[in-house]
Amino acid sequence: MISGCMQRVLAPLQQAAVALDIDGVLVKGKRALEEGGRALRMLGGHNRLRRRIPFVLLTNGGGVSEAEKAADVSRLLGVQIAADQIVLAHSPMRALAAEYAHKHVLVVGGEQSRCAHIARGYGLANVSTPNDVVAWRPSAWPFMPPPAAEQLSAPAVRNYASDPFHAVMVFHDSFDFGRDLQIATDVLRSRDATLGAELVNRQSVPLFMSNEDLIFSNDYARPRFGQGAYHVCLRAMWAALTAGAPLEYTLFGKPHAVQYRYAERLLDRLVLAAEPDADIARLHARRRIYAVGDNPAADIAGANAAGWTSVLVRTGIFSGAADANDPVHPAHHVADHVEDAVAWIVDS
Ligand code: G3P
Ligand code: MG
Repeated sequence: MISGCMQRVLAPLQQAAVALDIDGVLVKGKRALEEGGRALRMLGGHNRLRRRIPFVLLTNGGGVSEAEKAADVSRLLGVQIAADQIVLAHSPMRALAAEYAHKHVLVVGGEQSRCAHIARGYGLANVSTPNDVVAWRPSAWPFMPPPAAEQLSAPAVRNYASDPFHAVMVFHDSFDFGRDLQIATDVLRSRDATLGAELVNRQSVPLFMSNEDLIFSNDYARPRFGQGAYHVCLRAMWAALTAGAPLEYTLFGKPHAVQYRYAERLLDRLVLAAEPDADIARLHARRRIYAVGDNPAADIAGANAAGWTSVLVRTGIFSGAADANDPVHPAHHVADHVEDAVAWIVDS
């Protein structure tokens, strides 16, 4: 039984929910945007209407666990964020454990041993990284010193000549495009997906990518290459090496629907945590979800396709004039920054 007072607090929870992008909206690199903390406090109830609005942080970032990202953002912005409010690019990839729980997978990207650890946390028990392969045969990528022990995903070096892979999963931006293009194409082109077989012009195993952001915004003056840049290079190298053989892949991350369905489930859980008897079917019929982002191609395109209400801010990739919108992926509303965006959401 919910008291009348509680009902007044919970009623708005059933009508509005928010997904905030992180890079270019709440933070720039390692620096918090000053409007970010104020925006989160507004969502927590410090607003004109004294209403708490459930929210998640929906980012194409990754390379850390949801708990680590929550701790990082909480520290930067001075607002407590829980791990179950975080959707990273690779968060929905935990569903791949249904197929690959014990199958050997090449995990690419970021600080590789960290991504391998995240993959194991998602239930992918049998993973290796490009560094593991280079430790096995340093001549596989001869242009850098072989990785140190702490850069490997497991203490024992495996025999990749006869240990087949079953998938390549890119979890995060590559920190070394050359090495990661070389090792990923070696696996993808190997006749039986071992590194001992001959190369063929046919894809040996499925390829999964956690996001396709070509660029992202940090505290450098210009946008930086994202995981999508690695993807462009991988497709180009594949085409050049195989005389144009098809390369199939599955994409996660914004703007793809899988990310938005995942975020909606987290938002449902937040409502159920506050109100265990909530009628979720009724909630879905009434709820309006707002997405605040800086990247039209990812944040706005994805939110519009998901049937959400999109808000574009000017603090990251998009920096159009005061009355401008993105011409290709126009948002429902454009705000100067995230605090203005949340104020508009509270008032709408
Ligand atoms: O793709 C790079 C990543 O840092 C973008 O993050 O928070 O803008 O989705 P975000
Ligand atoms: Mg962004």
